[in-house]
This record gives sequence, structure tokens and C-alpha cells, in this order.
Amino acid sequence: MNKKELSTLWQNWAQQVKFKDAADVSQAKGQRQAADAILKYCFDDKWNDNTTIIEIGPGNALLAKTLFDRHSISRYVLVDGPRQLDNAKKTLSNYLDRVEMYTPEQISNITDNFDLFISCHCLPETPNEYQEFIFKTFLPRSKKLMIEQTISSNLGKYVPNVIALKHALEDYFTSYKQWNCNDEFKNLCIRSHQNIYIAK
Ligand SMILES: C[S@@+](CC[C@H](N)C(=O)[O-])C[C@H]1O[C@@H](n2cnc3c(N)ncnc32)[C@H](O)[C@@H]1O
Repeated sequence: MNKKELSTLWQNWAQQVKFKDAADVSQAKGQRQAADAILKYCFDDKWNDNTTIIEIGPGNALLAKTLFDRHSISRYVLVDGPRQLDNAKKTLSNYLDRVEMYTPEQISNITDNFDLFISCHCLPETPNEYQEFIFKTFLPRSKKLMIEQTISSNLGKYVPNVIALKHALEDYFTSYKQWNCNDEFKNLCIRSHQNIYIAK
């Protein structure tokens, strides 16, 4: 998929989905719990110095801030809409020297590999083609992954692209695990309409 097609995809999506203010959707407790899950399950409580991260759909970037507050991070790339990125900039004001921000239209400018790929409650709100594009573009370049997938039926026409994600997990990672809200993540995550994937 080239840059032009992606730009159209984003515009189509943006016209169909009601944009909420990031403050409404990015709940502090959930994002801190996501940070706990990342540390515990992706890094086995051992964080590497100079970790590099890409996050798709960070909202107001509270998860990024929690990780910055607690760990050493050398590069954190955020991809979201311009309004969300403005909010993220405020949240991450102490860390902007290590933060890069891109809108979906600019995604092909993002190069290099990452230690960790994060996306929470974002991709199932986008068309299947966009989800597949993100998986194929960034998962081969990421050593570890943490995805919280919204599985709520009120998503409307968009749903998680489970097949593309499963193929990507099998193709690009040595091991992966999926949890649903009924097992051990139940106490870790405040939102019950989600699956969590961790891969290494
Ligand atoms: C429900 S919010 C979740 C925010 C945050 N990750 C959290 O867990 O609280 C979904 C976020 O994904 C962003 N988003 C939607 N479509 C996107 C796309 N195509 N690329 C990147 N981000 C997108 C939205 O703007 C919003 O910030």
C-alpha cells in the first residue's frame, strides 16, 4: 500500500468514525495498567536501557508518560490524529527530546526497528486493510508486542482483524499469548471488552 492509498484510507476512516476527545477515551487507570502489563509480560520485569517503542493510537499518551516516568526510553514514536497528538505533546512535555509524532498519512516516514510495538483500543476502530497494513509494516520490525484489542460488538462496521494479527504473530514472533477478560488480566484491566496479546 503506498502513501497515497493510506492517506485516503485515513480520510475515509475519519469521516466515518466519530472523533472523541482523547481525554474521554484515554483513561488514566487503564493506561497505567497497560504499562504494568507491558513491564511484567513483555520484559519479565527487566526493562532494557535505551528501549525504543512505537505506539499506534496513543490518545492522550498517558501510557507513554507512565513508561517514561518509570523506565529508560531512548525513542518513542506515536501515531495518531493531529488533535490527539496535540494532547500527547502536552502529556509528554518533559520527554519531547525522545518523542516523535506522526499522523497516519505520514506513517511511511517511520523507519528503523523497535524494541516494542504497542497499540491499545485502537486498531479495531479502523478498516481491516489498515490493521493489516500496520501489522505487515511494523511487526516484522518490532522485537516485542503488546496489543489490547477491543472486541466490543458496538464497534459497528469495524472489527479486530484477528486473522491478519494471528498470521503476523506467527510469522514475526517466536512466541505469543492471547488473554481474554475472563482470565488473569481481568484484575489488571478495567475494561472488560478486550483481548490482550503479548508477543516476543
Ligand atoms: C479508544 S482510543 C484509545 C486510546 C489509548 N490507546 C487508550 O488505550 O486509552 C483510540 C485511539 O486510536 C486513535 N486512532 C484511531 N484511528 C487511528 C489510526 N488509523 N491510526 C492511528 N491512531 C488511530 C484515536 O484517535 C484514539 O486516540
